[in-house]
Amino acid sequence: MGGTALALEVADLSAGYGPVRALRRVSLEVPEGAVVTVLGGNGAGKSTLLRAISRTLTFHGGAVVSGTVSFGGRALGGLAPDRVVAAGVSQVPEGRQVFARMTVEDNLRAGALGARGDRATKAAAMKRVHELFPVLADRAHQRAGLLSGGEQQMLAVGRALMASPKLLLLDEPSLGLAPLMAARIADTIREINAQGTAVLLVEQNAALALRLASRAYVLEVGEVTLSGPAAELAASDEVRRRYLGVVDEEAAADAASATTTHPVLSRWEEAR
Ligand SMILES: Nc1ncnc2c1ncn2[C@@H]1O[C@H](COP(=O)(O)OP(=O)(O)O)[C@@H](O)[C@H]1O
Ligand SMILES: [Mg+2]
Repeated sequence: MGGTALALEVADLSAGYGPVRALRRVSLEVPEGAVVTVLGGNGAGKSTLLRAISRTLTFHGGAVVSGTVSFGGRALGGLAPDRVVAAGVSQVPEGRQVFARMTVEDNLRAGALGARGDRATKAAAMKRVHELFPVLADRAHQRAGLLSGGEQQMLAVGRALMASPKLLLLDEPSLGLAPLMAARIADTIREINAQGTAVLLVEQNAALALRLASRAYVLEVGEVTLSGPAAELAASDEVRRRYLGVVDEEAAADAASATTTHPVLSRWEEAR
């Protein structure tokens, strides 16, 4: 076939929590060096998907039921989470989790634990993180719990980057952030990708995600219902109506007096 090399390949993945089936035969691909987004509302299965890839589902009482995940042609199924990191896949879990009582620097060091690479590699990773997020260098010796929400999100991303991943899994990095901070996180994701790291970005903020990604998938109640080039999805009526809050022109004319811009979209526009 030729074409683009695949970094991540998820095929027919089903997963759940006990009797709850959260993912049903989900298939998706992330080409090497690409930004791919998975859109979906609350409970669609976005976090479950990332946990299944990073092999952390068991920490949440869940399990993969069937299907396969491979990275660079190598099966990740059956690996311990730290082996997945060593294979080049790092996850930033939802809710910007940092070790609040540890210093910013120690949080970053923790991200390099178990990663491949010698001291020089880890020093280079730290330098890269400090260049991306200068505030993390300025606050190196402060407790992470004292950082603002946006700074904690930067720290969570920085920690994942300490393992020098080839693929970064990001779980709703913009959630709950002020518009300007969300825009800065978006800029950083673009920069991280430009430096050669592929990104699988899970978001409810479709406007933000579709600007970053080349390809997008829509997940609804555990199933992929739409997929394609991000620009095509951004232009599709379905996505515009359901995820970008844009009503179709006729409906707009009918409701001429109503303001129809989606709050998330307009906040994002303001922040740019
Ligand atoms: N730890 C858990 N235990 C049981 N059910 C869960 C757990 N986490 C998520 N779920 C359920 O799995 C489904 C998908 O959830 P999730 O992957 O968190 O969705 P999203 O990240 O898109 O909001 C939902 O029905 C949710 O209630
Ligand atoms: Mg989630």
